[in-house]
Amino acid sequence: MLKKLSRAVLPASLRDWFHWQRLLWNCAGFGPGDLERAYGEICSGLDLARLRALREGMRATRERDPRCPAKYYDVEHWLRIALCNAARLGLHRRRGLRILDLGCGPGWFMAACRHFGHEVDGLDLPYGMMDDVSARVYRELTDFLGFGDRVQETRIEALKAMPLRGEYDVIVAFLVCFNNHKQPDTWGAREWRFFLDDAAARLRPGGRLFMQLNSDRPRFGKRVFYDAETLELFAARGQVRGKMVDIRTPSAPRHPVSAVSS
Ligand SMILES: C[S@@+](CC[C@H](N)C(=O)[O-])C[C@H]1O[C@@H](n2cnc3c(N)ncnc32)[C@H](O)[C@@H]1O
Repeated sequence: MLKKLSRAVLPASLRDWFHWQRLLWNCAGFGPGDLERAYGEICSGLDLARLRALREGMRATRERDPRCPAKYYDVEHWLRIALCNAARLGLHRRRGLRILDLGCGPGWFMAACRHFGHEVDGLDLPYGMMDDVSARVYRELTDFLGFGDRVQETRIEALKAMPLRGEYDVIVAFLVCFNNHKQPDTWGAREWRFFLDDAAARLRPGGRLFMQLNSDRPRFGKRVFYDAETLELFAARGQVRGKMVDIRTPSAPRHPVSAVSS
């Protein structure tokens, strides 16, 4: 509603300004100047002429369906979003974390993490399981960003442990679809509980799982992102604010508690 109203009354430049202000609102001291600096630094290491050529190659597809994954060639938008997401997690203030991006898609968030000095892996569906447009866009962009060999091709499945290669400090998932989003078998509390336990087992002590869910109002009504039982589960494990689910694993005790013999 507010979005529609602002589209009707505000010029595009002002709308853009509000958009980025809103995204930077909760970004732990990462302001507009920091965003532009980081964006410029990353872009200066990219072959932007090549990126324009890739985007041009998908122009007809994009014109047919502006919402399809070909939108991800827009570095101006998606890299800034990724930087804001990384900053919201405080990743600009730390170095050397091991991070895993589930459903990494084009790899923009991985690029933001690398820029902030972290070691990052991605995981996404095998390209052979994607539709042609998704496979082309995600492969081209992750290769372009130099992550071709860091994306594990794995389908996350309900009630199955993820075959991950290592342990992580942070596991993220933005615009989550692996929960069979908008399909008849969208995950409920049982599937989510299994996934949360599995992810927690892959996190180091003091680790963090952060997810941004996709909306599904026809299924979930006023709760939009989950049913009541799933919301209760998320809230019992961590913090839930609308689409954001933020779960931390306990830190290792500073002085390991030794076994008490009776
Ligand atoms: C909406 S896109 C989001 C991409 C990226 N995270 C972002 O925020 O821009 C959803 C991603 O999840 C991936 N995906 C969907 N189902 C999956 C599954 N079962 N296992 C792993 N990845 C999946 C898609 O291939 C796609 O890359």
